[in-house]
Amino acid sequence: MKIIEVNDYQQMSQVAAEYILKKVTDNPAIHLGLATGGTPSEMYKNLIEDHKQNGTSYEHVTTFNLDEYIGVSGENPNSYRYYMDNHLFNHINIDKRKTHIPLGNTTDSQAECNRYEQLINENGIDLQVLGIGQNGHIGFNEPGTSFSSKTHVVTLAPSTIQANARFFKTIEEVPTKAITMGISTIMKSKEILLLVSGESKKDAVNKLINGEIDEKFPASVLKNHPYVTIIADKAAVSGMK
Ligand code: F6R
Repeated sequence: MKIIEVNDYQQMSQVAAEYILKKVTDNPAIHLGLATGGTPSEMYKNLIEDHKQNGTSYEHVTTFNLDEYIGVSGENPNSYRYYMDNHLFNHINIDKRKTHIPLGNTTDSQAECNRYEQLINENGIDLQVLGIGQNGHIGFNEPGTSFSSKTHVVTLAPSTIQANARFFKTIEEVPTKAITMGISTIMKSKEILLLVSGESKKDAVNKLINGEIDEKFPASVLKNHPYVTIIADKAAVSGMK
């Protein structure tokens, strides 16, 4: 794992956007794996800004998002589809039909997991962007998830519901279930870019770098991947021993 240390959130977002832009320029038909949440939002702003200024084209880009809440439709402002449309897709020249996110409001979530897993297996992901939870989750793979897991339905950990409550009016509104790429799905990506910012992630970063590879700490699996780059700010690495 290669670590790029940056000063702060702004710089992390800028360096991450530049990293992705280089990949898109080198391979205009790249398959990107994307994440939602607080961490990548400024990076998406930078990509939009670049698109406006420099016209980087996403016409041939395909995307696969990590996860989606169950029970919310894409028009629901709390859905990850809504997040992606509003934080990125609506502002660049991407073909929405090539933007894939698990469907959160199907009647058969298990069938949706199978469909999504197969779609990823058929297409492949060149570069997967990840954030990390304080408990080491990646996607919505909470501690204890098998490293061989495929796309599946999860019950969110109370700490994850708590952490995500900031995006909702009340904590009761946070969905308790989600569909997520599994750990083996994420690991199949050719390359992984992990973004980490802020003091609240410092213990997770320390555990990732200095801890053992263990299903109790999902992100530790990344040590088994041959091509991982971490962009972390000073606060995020401040807990490293
Ligand atoms: C988001 C996702 C999650 C987040 C993680 C960190 O699609 O799968 O694993 O990356 O919860 O969230 P933030 O960035 O809000 O701290």
